[in-house]
Amino acid sequence: MSGQASELRPIVVAANWKMHKLRSEALEYLEDLGTWMDDHPRGLGTRVEVVVAPPFTSLELAVEHRPPHARIYAQTMHQSDQGAFTGEVSPAMLRDLGVDGVLLGHSERRQYFNEHDGALSEKVVAAAEFGLRAMLCVGETLDERQGGRAEDVVRDQLQTALSDLDVIKATSSGLSVAYEPVWAIGTGETATAEIAQGMHATIRDVLGSIFTAEIAERIPVLYGGSVKPANAAELLGQPDIDGALVGGAALEVESFSGIVSAGLDLVAGAGV
Ligand code: PGA
Repeated sequence: MSGQASELRPIVVAANWKMHKLRSEALEYLEDLGTWMDDHPRGLGTRVEVVVAPPFTSLELAVEHRPPHARIYAQTMHQSDQGAFTGEVSPAMLRDLGVDGVLLGHSERRQYFNEHDGALSEKVVAAAEFGLRAMLCVGETLDERQGGRAEDVVRDQLQTALSDLDVIKATSSGLSVAYEPVWAIGTGETATAEIAQGMHATIRDVLGSIFTAEIAERIPVLYGGSVKPANAAELLGQPDIDGALVGGAALEVESFSGIVSAGLDLVAGAGV
């Protein structure tokens, strides 16, 4: 049942630090993660990709101390390349720092900072234009799930955010999608592998209708929401779950590397 046997998409395991870690703590983490990755080279960077998304204050340091084969992502950005937007950071600035990609539309940005789908569609295009790999986050709230609207909400989020992205750029820009049911983020409550797989299959269908089925097969779709070493193997073993976006369990190298290990084991087991 392992979809990860597919050569078409890597497994992507991403650490979202959110608003955590001073620079000294960031440096210690990056060095420890680098040591761990040096000890586990097989499959890393090719079949299993590691992403670290620190807050802005540690981005430059993370680029300078980037563990081998890891990519560094920002957690958000503005869509304009420059302008009178106090407090914001532009795609040009991220590129200038040597950042590889950017999380877009995380539910905490949508919920607390009014990041809406219209701006997100501009951000997705801007990221591709500036050579930044976008990881678009989507997901329904508990109310929306209980009201039977989960799939419609996620479909709308995808269609609005991705409708302006050039079909060619959909794969060449390194786009990925993270399905993060809001009710599972930071709550200790994980979507069952079955619920997550069902939504991931829907997401792949929607990506197929926005782009083409062939392109949809190449876009990694990650699951996020209380992923930890104990549940990673089951989630990553689902055919349409291509990775994990991890918050709480990514704050320590030991638990984050446990999740990366689950991906490496899966790839080794699939013989690819
Ligand atoms: P969590 O957060 O792993 O702490 O649930 C995931 C996320 O918000 O990206």
